[in-house]
Amino acid sequence: MKGVVLAGGLGKRLWPLTRITNKHLLPVFDKPMIYYPIQCLVNAGIRDILIVTGGNHAGGFLELLGNGREFGLKELHYTYQVGEGGIADALSLAQDFADGEKIVVILGDNIIEKNIRQGVAHFFAQPRGARIYLKEVPDPERFGVPVFDREQIVRIEEKPAEPKSNYAVTGIYMYDEQVFDFIGRLSPSDRGELEITDVNNFYIEQGTMEYSLLEGWWTDAGTIESLHRAGNLVATGGANHAEPVEAGAHAEG
Ligand code: DAU
Repeated sequence: MKGVVLAGGLGKRLWPLTRITNKHLLPVFDKPMIYYPIQCLVNAGIRDILIVTGGNHAGGFLELLGNGREFGLKELHYTYQVGEGGIADALSLAQDFADGEKIVVILGDNIIEKNIRQGVAHFFAQPRGARIYLKEVPDPERFGVPVFDREQIVRIEEKPAEPKSNYAVTGIYMYDEQVFDFIGRLSPSDRGELEITDVNNFYIEQGTMEYSLLEGWWTDAGTIESLHRAGNLVATGGANHAEPVEAGAHAEG
């Protein structure tokens, strides 16, 4: 399976930290932020990885990561998002890379404690559709929030003032090749972005969206508070350390 890290956008919620550099190059405890989502994919057995960058200092990714040898990779792929058109806009740049295969997507500011290998394996076994990771949080209004009918997700609401559940849709998404058709049908939201939540709602309407519950801690790092929390969580709880590569652990396909 192929992996995509979305590291575009202008990171305005972190100004002035991001006025002259890219949010995903900022430190989270002892590593640049972008290391954590890459390691998350690698730990799940994904070796073919595209980084969608954008904004300021995009060249810094190449200088920092090169071909990904530090992660045990042979090479890394890169592309550049012009402007800040939203997560789905950034993902649209991965169409040629995906080349009709299923993809695992992670937001460049999402950091998790544990391994997503099991969810990736479930998605690989899914005949079609999408899979998201949910996490119970104290502040769902900051995120995409699933609305349930019993165990079934009936829709996702983006940053609702009155959340209908205590779950956040984390920035870990798995899609089949239909995702690019769905992105093509989107119109910009009120905040002027192509929303990944609208993409997920297409899959829900189609009845092909599955979900997994994320174990261990999860945080984004896109605000001063969450960046600070991310550093503390990594410092005290560890996150996405390089794991020994087991024979046959690659998620092929
Ligand atoms: O962290 C999970 C949340 O991420 C989800 O619960 C929400 O449904 C989803 O919309 C998103 O919310 P945010 O508003 O927090 O996303 P943000 O704009 O901070 O972007 C998160 C990452 O996505 C960012 O670190 C890089 C990537 N991105 C974002 C934008 C706007 C891009 O690559 N390009 C973009 O244009």
